Amino acid sequence: MSFALKSREEEEEKDDDEKIYKRYIEIVATTLPTIEGWSGKPSYQYQGFWHNSGASGVGPLAFQDHFKARPSDIFLASIPKCGSTWLKSLAFAVMNRKSHPPSAQPQHPLCILNSHDLVPGLEGMLYNNNLNGSRIPNLDILPSPRLFSTHMPYTSLPQSVTLSGSRIVYICRNTNDNLVSWWHFINKVRSNNSLEPVKLEEAIELFCKGMSSLGPFWEHVLAYWKASLERPQNVLFLKYDEMIAEPALHLKRIAEFMGCPFSSMEEKEEVVDQIIKLCSFENLSNLAVNKTDKNGTGIPNSAFFRQGKVGDSANYLTTEMMEQLDRITMQKLHGSGLIL
Ligand code: A3P
Repeated sequence: MSFALKSREEEEEKDDDEKIYKRYIEIVATTLPTIEGWSGKPSYQYQGFWHNSGASGVGPLAFQDHFKARPSDIFLASIPKCGSTWLKSLAFAVMNRKSHPPSAQPQHPLCILNSHDLVPGLEGMLYNNNLNGSRIPNLDILPSPRLFSTHMPYTSLPQSVTLSGSRIVYICRNTNDNLVSWWHFINKVRSNNSLEPVKLEEAIELFCKGMSSLGPFWEHVLAYWKASLERPQNVLFLKYDEMIAEPALHLKRIAEFMGCPFSSMEEKEEVVDQIIKLCSFENLSNLAVNKTDKNGTGIPNSAFFRQGKVGDSANYLTTEMMEQLDRITMQKLHGSGLIL
């Protein structure tokens, strides 16, 4: 194909993509409930969950329509502030340990880039019109197995993800810690955008109404929980709190689920411990890349590292606040078998 012909074809494809994105923007603007989101940009309610147009644009709609899953794909899923930065680091280190041994620091990619850039978000980065100049990404060129991340609710995932036999690793966290982590995070983003901080009381009200990022929190978690019970070979359900308590046990579960279990030789050579150390809060949060750089979405990498502890919410929530959240959590999870 001649160069002129190729570039005309590319121009036409670009125009088509722009038209597709314009249609999504119109759908969001004219048909979906919209509020001023916590970041100061609009949030829209799509298929029962609140998406932030500042964080992902109309990416959720484009992801649904255009992504084609492969059986070998692995998706790291979560509701924001449940430990996705950590999970992405662990999964990346596990999957790439032959080409990038975890002991090889500071050359390891995790010492050079933040895990959100190494494991890109589908709707938040790759299909996000705000970031990709309204181009539908061509993900067919990526070699298998592909490792992606998503905050999409289970019920909104493209059908090919749930039908192709691909694997999903979901991470969740206890309600109170998720809420407090989210509150700190949104105030960091707001201060970056020169906006006043949100008071904790207001954050709790929004959270309880389901208006946190990708909320309602409980419905997001429950749908993945149920999927993990129905399709355990395809959906692995992890709890941040349990991973903090026993990282080696859960790292081995992750590796096995991803189809690349640790060999006994690797265990003898302490590869498991090396990955845990490489991905630890202490190590990652102190790297220059995570202290000073921004990730592909424009958020400072440092905003993804705060305490990295279980139970820190008790330092912020009053007894009444905790009782209110516990009551809702109990009601919502009643009968599901899930304890948060
Ligand atoms: P805290 O705000 O409670 O400290 P996400 O990655 O989904 O945005 O979640 C952010 C939470 O995970 C924050 O919790 C953050 O400190 C914690 N975190 C980030 N990296 C971590 C790591 N390597 N190990 C453990 N926790 C980590």
